[in-house]
Amino acid sequence: MKYAHIIGWGRFLPDSVLTNDDIAQLVETSNDWIYTRTGIRSRRIAGNKETTATLAFEAGARAVARANIRPEQLDLIIVATSTPQYSFPSTACQVQTYLGAGDAGAFDLSAACSGFVYALDMAAQAIATGSIKYALVIGAEVMSRVLDWEDRGTCILFGDGAGAVVLKGSDIPGGVLATACHADGSGGDALNLPAVYQNNLPLPMLSTTEEMAQSVAEKNTIRMHGRQVFRFATRVVPAAVTEVAEKAGIPLDEIDLIVPHQANVRIIDSAAKKLGVEANKFYINVTNVGNTSAASIPIALCEAVEAGRLRPNDTLVFVGFGGGLTWASALIKWEVTPPKEMSDFTGSQWRQYRYIRARLRARLRQWRRAAWARLAGSPTPGARLKDADKNK
Ligand code: UT7
Repeated sequence: MKYAHIIGWGRFLPDSVLTNDDIAQLVETSNDWIYTRTGIRSRRIAGNKETTATLAFEAGARAVARANIRPEQLDLIIVATSTPQYSFPSTACQVQTYLGAGDAGAFDLSAACSGFVYALDMAAQAIATGSIKYALVIGAEVMSRVLDWEDRGTCILFGDGAGAVVLKGSDIPGGVLATACHADGSGGDALNLPAVYQNNLPLPMLSTTEEMAQSVAEKNTIRMHGRQVFRFATRVVPAAVTEVAEKAGIPLDEIDLIVPHQANVRIIDSAAKKLGVEANKFYINVTNVGNTSAASIPIALCEAVEAGRLRPNDTLVFVGFGGGLTWASALIKWEVTPPKEMSDFTGSQWRQYRYIRARLRARLRQWRRAAWARLAGSPTPGARLKDADKNK
């Protein structure tokens, strides 16, 4: 039995800031309403050239640098996301290439805002069995691309970003000590994001033409019953914290820091009251980051470390909740002595050079595959499409 210790962490936020006043130019709302109902003042929005994979890479590279390991040492990369650029290849596969992480296993995990904690659990279990030693767990989202910017009930809440941790297997007791992952699929209608291809449902799958018309008219954007999700969250957050504390045999008052999914300050305040713990035990950064879904917990963790909120031997709890409906928690013994240099750590120039080399190598491999395909006489996917066009 091995223990999965967090040995590296990193976050990345896009430069562009969108304030509540900016949103008030788009929909009927105000800074005052948004701040008093959610605690949010601003959020970051990805630029045109940024994707979930590029944000995930930036956070992952920082975590790998902080862990002081080489990307080739990673055995597994999991990206928790609801906003991948492709259904496949997974965002994790893109990150593996960008990092030059050898042939590490890589997959995406979909559990909405609970995704990071689910992914941490999966990686920690793989480490515990001894099947892998190093795992990179990332939460990354470009929520701004799946929002209906005419819906004031949702567009005020979300932001873009990525956060990551590196886990290492060790015989020394500690690290991820208890986890709990739960779901209630009957609540899928309370918060959802239709898949992009849903608008192209083949006719036999639809019973009426009205349904077809409705399906086409639907936007591929987030839909949420805010009050339902609010009530669900205030119920499951305290329950999930209590569950992992009991599993680990640690009394609630011995928990030093709780890093919750950052959705709404009012949800966090309510959870603190129900648990009977001081509100300042919860780390909050939703004010200037917004709700970044699966990325919110690792981003908040990085900020908590930078703010000096974690010391070696502290007991830390992550708690996530969101679409599915899903909820999950993890209790971790934090062993790392925070380094002196805390700000945005990207690693040495040597590491940057290796990332450029990794991309060049990936490009070379693509060219080589295409050249072999041509030599063998088999058309590339692009050529097949051109031929199909010609034959029309
Ligand atoms: O990570 C995913 C998890 N998601 C969440 O955790 C979200 C949980 N839910 C929430 O955080 C809250 O429900 C919201 C912040 C989304 C909404 O707050 P609320 O206090 O539940 O407001 P409400 O939806 O009950 O709406 C109250 C009123 C309504 O007006 P009427 O019907 O009372 O006249 C809304 O139309 O506020 C109105 N309203 C707004 N007004 C100004 C709704 N959104 C806005 C807005 N600006 N952006």
